[in-house]
Amino acid sequence: MKNINNYDVIVLGGGAAGLMCAIEAGKRGRRVLVVDHAKAPAEKIRISGGGRCNFTNLHCSPKNFLSQNSHFCKSALSNYSSTDFIALVKRHKIAFHEKTLGQLFCDNSAKDIIKMLLVEMAAAKAELWLETSIEHISKTEDGFSVETSEGVLNGQSLVVATGGRSIPKMGATGLGYDIAAQFGLAIVEPRPALVPFTYTSDIAEAWSKLSGVAMDVRATVAKTRFEEAMLITHRGLSGPAILQISSYWREGGTVEINMLPKINVAEELTKARHERPKATIVNLLSDFLPKRFSQHIVEHLGMREQKLADLSKKTIQICEDYIHRHPFMPGGTEGYRTAEVTLGGVSTAELSQKTMEAKSVSGLFFIGEVVDVTGHLGGHNFQWAWSSGYAAGQSV
Ligand code: FDA
Repeated sequence: MKNINNYDVIVLGGGAAGLMCAIEAGKRGRRVLVVDHAKAPAEKIRISGGGRCNFTNLHCSPKNFLSQNSHFCKSALSNYSSTDFIALVKRHKIAFHEKTLGQLFCDNSAKDIIKMLLVEMAAAKAELWLETSIEHISKTEDGFSVETSEGVLNGQSLVVATGGRSIPKMGATGLGYDIAAQFGLAIVEPRPALVPFTYTSDIAEAWSKLSGVAMDVRATVAKTRFEEAMLITHRGLSGPAILQISSYWREGGTVEINMLPKINVAEELTKARHERPKATIVNLLSDFLPKRFSQHIVEHLGMREQKLADLSKKTIQICEDYIHRHPFMPGGTEGYRTAEVTLGGVSTAELSQKTMEAKSVSGLFFIGEVVDVTGHLGGHNFQWAWSSGYAAGQSV
C-alpha cells in the first residue's frame, strides 16, 4: 500500500461540517485532504429542505440545541454565526428567501450551496477524495495514520466529520462513534431525532384512515413545546411539530397534543349551545378543525348525532380534554430510516468548546452531527455544521 504524506490535515467525511473545516484550514495555508466513501460530496445538503436546503436560521441561538451540556455550542455559534454564513451565501450571489420562523432556503437549488463550498475549497487548495473507504486509524508519533482503499494517509490533525446514523441508505455509518470509542472517548447514546412517530396497534386502524389530515397543533413533552403543523399519515404522526418534539420524547412516554392551541373549545361550545342549538358538535368543530378529524372525534367520543343544545358540562369537558390535552402515546418512531438527525454522539465533555479538539488526544477533532449537539428543525443543524467546522478549521 502506498504511503501518502502530503497533508497536514485529514478530514473524514465530506458533508457540511467537513467541507467547512477544510475551507477554513486551507485558507490558513494548511494542506488539507477530505476523504469520503460516497460518490458525491454533501449528499445530505443536496436532498435537504426538499431540495432547496434550509441552510441556516436567522434566529439560531444555543436555545435551539439539545446536548448534555447546553453551554458547549455557545462559543462556536458566536464565532461563526448565521450572519457569517449568510454573508458567504451572498458573496456567491445565491438567491435565498425566508420561508417561515427565520428559516432560510435557496430560491433555486440546494446544489448552489454545494457548489459554493466546492468553489471555496478549491480556492483554499483543499483536496477531496471520493469513493475512498476508511479502513483503519492509528495514532503516530506526530499525528495520525489512516489506512484507506487508496493508500495510507499521514497527517498531523485528524478531523472526524462523518455525521450521524440517520439515513443509512445515503451512506450514513457509525464510523465517528467507532473512532471515538477507539480513543476511549465517551459517547452519549445516539438515537434517531427529528423523526415521525408510529402508532400503537390499538389506534393504528382508526388514525391511519385520517391520513393526509394536517392541522396546526401544540405538541408538548414535559416543559418543551412546539407550535407548528402536524400531519397524520398511514404509519403515524409527522409534520414539523411532531419532528421537533420527537427529539424530546422517550420510549413509553406520551406527547400531549393541543389540536387547537389558539381556540378555547369549551368557550366556543358553550357559546354555540345558545347561538346554534340545532347544530351538531361536528358542525361546530369543523369550523376550527379539518372535517374528517372532527368526525373522528365525535365518533371516538360517541357523540356523533349530538346537538349542541343537548351538551352537558361533562360532555364539553370531555371534548375539551380530547382536543386540548390529547395524550398521544407513540408506538415508536420510524427510526434512522427517515430521521433527519441523530441525537447524542461524542460527549461534549471530551472536547474543547473552542476548537472541537479531543482534550485527551492531541490533534483529534470531532465536528458536526457526530458530536452530542443536535439542533431543532429549521436550519439549526446546518448552522452547527458550519460553526463547529469553522471552529476546528481555525485550529487544525
Ligand atoms: P453529513 O451527514 O452531512 O456528512 C457526513 C459525511 O461523511 C457524508 O458525506 C458521508 O458520506 C461521510 N461518511 C459517513 N460514514 C463514512 C465512512 N464510514 N467512510 C467515509 N465517509 C463516511 N439540516 C438543516 O439544518 N436544514 C435542513 O434543511 C435539513 N434537511 C435535512 C433533510 C434530510 C432528509 C436529512 C436526512 C437531514 C437534513 N438536515 C437538515 C440535517 C443535516 O443534513 C445534517 O445535520 C448535516 O448534514 C450534518 O452535517 P455533517 O457534516 O456533520 O454530516
